[in-house]
Amino acid sequence: MAEPATLTVVVGAQWGDEGKGKITDYFAGDCDYVVRFQGGNNAGHTVIVEGEVYKLHHIPSGVLYPQPVSVIGNGVVVNPKGLIEEIESLKTKGVKLNLKVSDRAHAIMPYHIVMDECLTSHQGELAAGSTKRGIAPVYADKAYRHGIRLGDLIEPAIFEEKLQRAYQFNEQVVTRAFGVKFDLAFDDIYTDYLKFGEMLQHYICDTQLELFEAYRNGKSFLFEGAQGVSLDIDHGLYPHTTSSNTVAGQMSVGTGIGFNGERRVIGVAKGYVSRVGISPFPTELEGTEADYLRERGQEYGTTTGRPRRVGNLDLVQLRQAVRVNGLTEIALTKIDILSGLEELSVCTTYNITGEEVREMPGSLAKMRQATPNSVALPGWAEMTDKDIERLCSGGYGNLPDTMKAYIDFIEQEVNCPITIISLGPQRHQTIVR
Ligand code: GDP
Ligand code: IMO
Ligand code: MG
Repeated sequence: MAEPATLTVVVGAQWGDEGKGKITDYFAGDCDYVVRFQGGNNAGHTVIVEGEVYKLHHIPSGVLYPQPVSVIGNGVVVNPKGLIEEIESLKTKGVKLNLKVSDRAHAIMPYHIVMDECLTSHQGELAAGSTKRGIAPVYADKAYRHGIRLGDLIEPAIFEEKLQRAYQFNEQVVTRAFGVKFDLAFDDIYTDYLKFGEMLQHYICDTQLELFEAYRNGKSFLFEGAQGVSLDIDHGLYPHTTSSNTVAGQMSVGTGIGFNGERRVIGVAKGYVSRVGISPFPTELEGTEADYLRERGQEYGTTTGRPRRVGNLDLVQLRQAVRVNGLTEIALTKIDILSGLEELSVCTTYNITGEEVREMPGSLAKMRQATPNSVALPGWAEMTDKDIERLCSGGYGNLPDTMKAYIDFIEQEVNCPITIISLGPQRHQTIVR
């Protein structure tokens, strides 16, 4: 009997863009498999290695190491053209890919992108401000049961049969429900997607079987979540969410393996909060305070380039992330960005019409009224690049006392240990406690 498999999951504990790519890359070197299990190319994960910047959208952030197999599971939605471009761009940078893509993963089709535009205009104030990658429509077609899966792209007859239905449905909705011109030709989509299927054929397989075999043989797995808890379609601030489950429990559904062993579940949280898109945002900062954090933290979307809204750390949100994901630990990122601030304001509870609320409400009406109850914690001095190098090689004990007090405070409030502290975007700018 082999040793039990080692399971580590990395998920977003806020609104996405917490630094999941960096943390996944940090741990990927020791793993046999690095796996994406939900989301699509709405995700933008940045990894910086030896000064080279990689922006990954479909491919897991373990791809920069030679040995782990990169897996795109069935729960992911794939834009085939986007994936081909991503593969090519990595190859151009000299990355050797060992990639497997589930034949059950759904394909984002050109009409999904048209539908995404239509839905966003229709939903007005209730829209989430999507990345316009066709994410809600592709997951909707999956649920309608006329979605196209990657495996279909290498079976021309089935693909044609399915595409007829899906194309007609989307054309009717776009023209009749939204009154928008639909100028996508069936034949073009059919021909283009068969070509994409041919180009991806080498990577498309039944990933369930390979993962199961590896699981039984005691291999080590790292699962990389996309987005974050507040964007989860069930547990996030619905309807201002994405269209998949972003929480750790999705790892089984999105891969087809009922992993039942012990696991590390790492929630990635920034020392502050950023949010791209529309929704109530209780700790949002405005004006010069917001500009300061946005510029210093370079808070611009990795996928869309949109300026991110920024705010103070929200422990109501983080408490929910701990609970819903079953976090065993937290990786706290971008702590360097907070250096030089005299005081750090941290939201511990919400005030909702005079009531103090500790746990994230499900009610949109309540969230629209939520304002933060905050405490001010002492900050720490500005750090130069040299200081950061010194701190990273010296370990946790060398961190400024006020930073350690800030970390202790968060741990106590959300009842979860902070075991990883990230002081910069590069792989080595990380302290493990
Ligand atoms: P993800 O979507 O969660 O993978 O995060 P993104 O890559 O979209 O955004 C995080 C950004 O912060 C990227 O530009 C990272 O290079 C950067 N980053 C990650 N960790 C740190 C850190 O500790 N300090 C600084 N300054 N930047 C970081
Ligand atoms: P990573 O993995 C931040 C947001 C969008 C929008 C909502 C719905 O890089 O953390 P969608 O295109 O999914 O229909 O948009 O979700 N969103 C993200 N925000 N980081 C992401 O991914 C996101 N993926 C989607 O801005 O509010
Ligand atoms: Mg991102």
